[in-house]
Amino acid sequence: MLETPEQIQHIPWRSITRKRFFVAFFVVLGLTILISVYTPLYYFGSYQQIFQVSFRQKSENRTKMSYWEQCELPIYDFYNDEIIPYVNPNVNPLSRCNASLKPLTTLINGSWGLKDKKLKLECRTRCHWRESERRNKIGNWSYQPGPVDCEVLEAVCAENNTDVYGYLHTQILPTPPRKPKVETKNLKQYDVTVILVDSLAYSQARRSLPRTISYMTNHMDAVLFPYVNKVGDNSRPNGVALWFGKLLQKIDRSLFDEESIMADWTHNYMCHVFKDNETSLFHEFQKYGYKTLLAEDWAEGTLNWPNCKGFNKPPFDHYMRPFQNALERKNHGLDVTKRHLKGQMCREHHHTMLDYLGQFLDAYPDQKKFSWVWAINLGHDTENGIAHSDNDFYNFMVKHRQQLDNSFVVFVGDHGLRFGGVRKTFVGALDVNNPFLAISIPKELRKTTKILDHMKENAKKLQTHFDTRSAILDILKFQSASNFTDTKPLEIPGERGYSYLREQPSIIRNCKNTPIPYQYCICQFNKTTVSTDNKVALSIGEHIANSVNEQLKEGNFAEDCIEMKVDRILSLLKYDQSMNGSDVYSVVAEMKKPSQADFKANVKVLPTGKIKVLGMVERANSYKRTADCIASEHHRPYCYCKNQQSATTMKST
Ligand SMILES: *[C@@H]1O[C@H](CO)[C@@H](O)[C@H](O)[C@H]1NC(C)=O
Ligand SMILES: *[C@@H]1O[C@H](CO)[C@@H](O)[C@H](O)[C@H]1NC(C)=O
Ligand SMILES: *[C@@H]1O[C@H](CO)[C@@H](O)[C@H](O)[C@H]1NC(C)=O
Ligand SMILES: *[C@@H]1O[C@H](CO)[C@@H](O)[C@H](O)[C@H]1NC(C)=O
Ligand SMILES: *[C@@H]1O[C@H](CO)[C@@H](O)[C@H](O)[C@H]1NC(C)=O
Ligand SMILES: *[C@@H]1O[C@H](CO)[C@@H](O)[C@H](O)[C@H]1NC(C)=O
Ligand SMILES: *[C@@H]1O[C@H](CO)[C@@H](O)[C@H](O)[C@H]1NC(C)=O
Ligand SMILES: *[C@@H]1O[C@H](CO)[C@@H](O)[C@H](O)[C@H]1NC(C)=O
Ligand SMILES: *[C@@H]1O[C@H](CO)[C@@H](O)[C@H](O)[C@H]1NC(C)=O
Repeated sequence: MLETPEQIQHIPWRSITRKRFFVAFFVVLGLTILISVYTPLYYFGSYQQIFQVSFRQKSENRTKMSYWEQCELPIYDFYNDEIIPYVNPNVNPLSRCNASLKPLTTLINGSWGLKDKKLKLECRTRCHWRESERRNKIGNWSYQPGPVDCEVLEAVCAENNTDVYGYLHTQILPTPPRKPKVETKNLKQYDVTVILVDSLAYSQARRSLPRTISYMTNHMDAVLFPYVNKVGDNSRPNGVALWFGKLLQKIDRSLFDEESIMADWTHNYMCHVFKDNETSLFHEFQKYGYKTLLAEDWAEGTLNWPNCKGFNKPPFDHYMRPFQNALERKNHGLDVTKRHLKGQMCREHHHTMLDYLGQFLDAYPDQKKFSWVWAINLGHDTENGIAHSDNDFYNFMVKHRQQLDNSFVVFVGDHGLRFGGVRKTFVGALDVNNPFLAISIPKELRKTTKILDHMKENAKKLQTHFDTRSAILDILKFQSASNFTDTKPLEIPGERGYSYLREQPSIIRNCKNTPIPYQYCICQFNKTTVSTDNKVALSIGEHIANSVNEQLKEGNFAEDCIEMKVDRILSLLKYDQSMNGSDVYSVVAEMKKPSQADFKANVKVLPTGKIKVLGMVERANSYKRTADCIASEHHRPYCYCKNQQSATTMKST
């Protein structure tokens, strides 16, 4: 049994939480929903609407909603004293760039040319086409300005046979309208434009993008969703939830003494089988006659890192990958080209993607478009990487305001910042699980439909990427058929979320009835700091180390990675409420040198004294390149390589 812990202090969010959610009654038939959420139903056919009656049949008092099923949402100061030292809005990687360095070459109306005809340099260009995810087909150099039949063009200028200038231009080469595979005559179709900024958390967006957000909420009537919960650790599981509706991470429900919900895809299937036969959002939009675009500013992208196949035939009509291949891969772009985003020219990765997206919006004034930009470089590694891009997103939205006023615009993060000391603060620890989400709907729907009202109501509740996905499918398939007048909750077969463009099932949304792995849950529970200076605390630490070592063994990495041994407990919080007699703790434990890895986990101490680690153990500090001897995305956070020389170049998403 645990010793009686000392009550030292209440953790800070108690004092800043102002609002609480009470459970009025427990809707027994909410179970219907749980079952459909958690049973993989792979049937097809027409969708069903859920009517209020069907799950409010009887609100018996038989089972009172337990403490663990409530969800008190976090309300807090985005600028509290703890996080302020980490926030610096003045960071600007472009502060030393030369704004008068303009591109010397142009790509306009399908032809390349020179900005200044009297230029003394010798300029040449060549095309980059996609051959595969990791390789471009590269054209021959052309020395004569003229027509270009590719979307990514490398331009290089030389002085005395030395290359002094390199640049990558983009354009959209429009293709003929796509014939829809379903009847769309009676559908009201709108563009859907998604801008995803990697690692952008809700509170961080509020700190970093004030102008963009003010423009979106004011001119575009966007609704902000403060309570989105991520569904996986890093980019891929969140991206796969959005794009495919699939769960990549097991949902461990041992806290509730219930069966875990297994992942839909194994790592092997995710990584080593082309995803062409899976139905992504891009496939769905193409089926409905849309033109699609994907731009990611990283040549490995969401589906390829670190050694995964991605698509053989990508479902994107316009795909920016040859640009990133040219920039990042060996024997692709020339060195002078690869340097052109390194700061001197005031051009960054997100500029190139917004350019490409803008070209796409311009290229198809009369066709429906689904576009997705995924900006990884800005915020992936630092709290302060995003603020300087505020004007860029604002300028983009103003420049394209007519097109965007006629589109659904989704501005979203996949998860929050995963690295650095800021994660040790209350706000930083919340941010990592709480991605940003803002949505604006087409202008003509703002006054004539109830959608904004529903969104505002739903924004007060816990949401996930699965709900965003369902909302996007709703736009494509369901609301489009009713002129955006549907208001009743919608259950889409095989989907785990509920569109928030209409009512959602009227249950208290919590981390038990939504597909959120508990270790990421943003619902707040009262916890008390307890002493770490006792045997039980250390034993908890040992169980966490064991759990990590087990993972490494299961993955067959025990040869490559050292065995973790606990050094000390950095923090131990006890949940005020016990779970059926068991005490529940949230722990951060530091491992012995050389790894000094910090691991965070929830554990349960049973009445018998037995300790159970609940769900996934998370890495809470940066592992930089210490895990470079292995490639498994799942295992790298657990690994400290025995041989620290065996580094191969890898980056984590
Ligand atoms: C349900 O429970 C609440 C409080 O626990 C009580 O006030 C209410 O009367 C009960 N309703 C029914 C129908 O039993
Ligand atoms: C900036 O670029 C311009 C145009 O090439 C050049 O004349 C000027 O010297 C550059 N300034 C600096 C500080 O490098
Ligand atoms: C590009 O083409 C359009 C239409 O053909 C024309 O109006 C425009 O002037 C051209 N732009 C340039 C810079 O040549
Ligand atoms: C490049 O030039 C060579 C020789 O003229 C030719 O065989 C080849 O097809 C050209 N490649 C492309 C991509 O046009
Ligand atoms: C180019 O090379 C020639 C001969 O090597 C030299 O005279 C000239 O100054 C060089 N020009 C520049 C701009 O470096
Ligand atoms: C996709 O489906 C086709 C037809 O069923 C099959 O031939 C092909 O092997 C599948 N591809 C993958 C990557 O599973
Ligand atoms: C959709 O709404 C518009 C006006 O908001 C109306 O003109 C049109 O007839 C409606 N279409 C359908 C199919 O109801
Ligand atoms: C959490 O703690 C606060 C203050 O200590 C208390 O008022 C509140 O009732 C507690 N909430 C729950 C659900 O136990
Ligand atoms: C509570 O614990 C008891 C004994 O440990 C167990 O038999 C029972 O199934 C548990 N109940 C729930 C709801 O987990």
